[in-house]
Amino acid sequence: MKIKNICCIGAGYVGGPTMSVLAQKNPDIKITVVDINQDRINSWNDENLNDLPIYEPGLKEIVNEARDRNLFFHTDVEKAIDEADMIFISVNTPTKTYGKGKGMAADLKYVELCARQIAKVAKSDKIVVEKSTLPVRTAQAIKNILDNTGSGVKFQILSNPEFLAEGTAIQDLLHPDRVLIGGEESPEGKEAIDALVEIYATWIPKEKILTTNVWSSELSKLVANAFLAQRVSSINAISELCEVTGADVNEVSRAIGMDSRIGPKFLKSSVGFGGSCFQKDILNLVYIAKTYGLHEVADYWEQVIIMNDHQKRRFADNIVSTLYNTVSGKKITFLGWAFKKDTNDTRESAAIYVADALMNEQAEITVYDPKVSEERIYEDLDYLGTRSPEENRKLLKVVKEPYEACNESHAIAILTEWDEFKEYDWQKIYDSVIKPAFIFDGRKLLNPKEIKEIGFEYYAIGS
Ligand code: UDX
Ligand code: ADP
Repeated sequence: MKIKNICCIGAGYVGGPTMSVLAQKNPDIKITVVDINQDRINSWNDENLNDLPIYEPGLKEIVNEARDRNLFFHTDVEKAIDEADMIFISVNTPTKTYGKGKGMAADLKYVELCARQIAKVAKSDKIVVEKSTLPVRTAQAIKNILDNTGSGVKFQILSNPEFLAEGTAIQDLLHPDRVLIGGEESPEGKEAIDALVEIYATWIPKEKILTTNVWSSELSKLVANAFLAQRVSSINAISELCEVTGADVNEVSRAIGMDSRIGPKFLKSSVGFGGSCFQKDILNLVYIAKTYGLHEVADYWEQVIIMNDHQKRRFADNIVSTLYNTVSGKKITFLGWAFKKDTNDTRESAAIYVADALMNEQAEITVYDPKVSEERIYEDLDYLGTRSPEENRKLLKVVKEPYEACNESHAIAILTEWDEFKEYDWQKIYDSVIKPAFIFDGRKLLNPKEIKEIGFEYYAIGS
């Protein structure tokens, strides 16, 4: 079966970049990305490629090449579903904020709505691909909805989890370690898998395209993220030990990472992991384990999150105790708000929680982030619901210039590892801040020797 027309529901961090690369590599397939959010679609269609709704290095060049050739963005979801042979579901699956599984299970309401919409509109057979991260057995739920339409239309459901990381999405899509496709073990299932394999095989070597059953594929995605997050929590646990023993966590990371059985990646100690996936996927894994009564399994993975929360909290606590146990009325500058560099995404960013803790102590925070908008920062704080939107705006200011952000500050906290922070004129910053001049480096980004020579009191995670 040769696919000619693809629809992707959801024009977010996953759907947008993934479909852009798919379109670039398959110019003979028409790809339509749809979203209910009109503003988002308008931004994807913006003449000015610097105004795309998400920032990813290399993305705008690809959108420029494929857009209006075989890549289209619009809001007419039903028309796109109707015309497609293959439909990717790439909508958000946040952690539930209500009811059973609150704070743990994934909220599948958006996915279910998509399935129902596909069921309503489809007049010809279709392959439905789950791209969003979903709990194990979601494909079965989608299948149940689609198989009960009474329209006689046949659906094949594939699981094709996305492993791209934000900030490197385009490189990850162009050169993935592997592509995973799960499908039904029947001739029709095999045919659907092959159709998707062909699309990826236009640029990815076939030996990197793994095919499995649906459940293995769904579970592998959760497990991959859980393992990665576990490495970060493991090294963060050691960072605290380093601080009290006089060891340096970077040196420990390097020493253990050279063991080829351990490997060097994901051993960078930080103020805590963020992002839309790690916490959500682990909570999901924990929830599934608990549902099946596997309490030891659930507790084991939950500890990764407990450690991460501890790391964020102790970073904030250290700022308070170092500033003579009071930050009330003091200006604290945050360099960085995004959950990692090279993205404007802030979901679950450590910065949000550190800011919240310091604002509870009545600190006055000034934030500078090269890519995150002021609106986004206030939305993140308002979403926590700790205090009123007015109070959030009173206690926290967002500025567009780093030197202005640091001016007359009692302390500078580095929350995101943006490269530009390394290039700043730190002597100039030193001259403009209140003394003693404190820096709390949550990313171990700056050169301690140079910074201390200038005169700063410098605290870095893990040393
Ligand atoms: C992650 C997975 O890497 C990706 O495969 C999956 O598809 C989605 O989830 P992402 O959340 O975009 O990607 O970013 P990632 O690079 O994994 O970083 C996650 C968080 O961990 C960030 O806050 C990052 O700063 C932190 N991190 C990562 C560390 O603190 N130390 C490390 O060594 C690595
Ligand atoms: P992700 O990181 O998983 O891509 P995002 O939140 O960035 O998550 O993107 C998901 C997108 O899916 C949002 O732009 C949202 O508007 C869109 N979406 C959610 N439900 C639907 C739906 N039923 N139809 C179309 N788009 C949807």
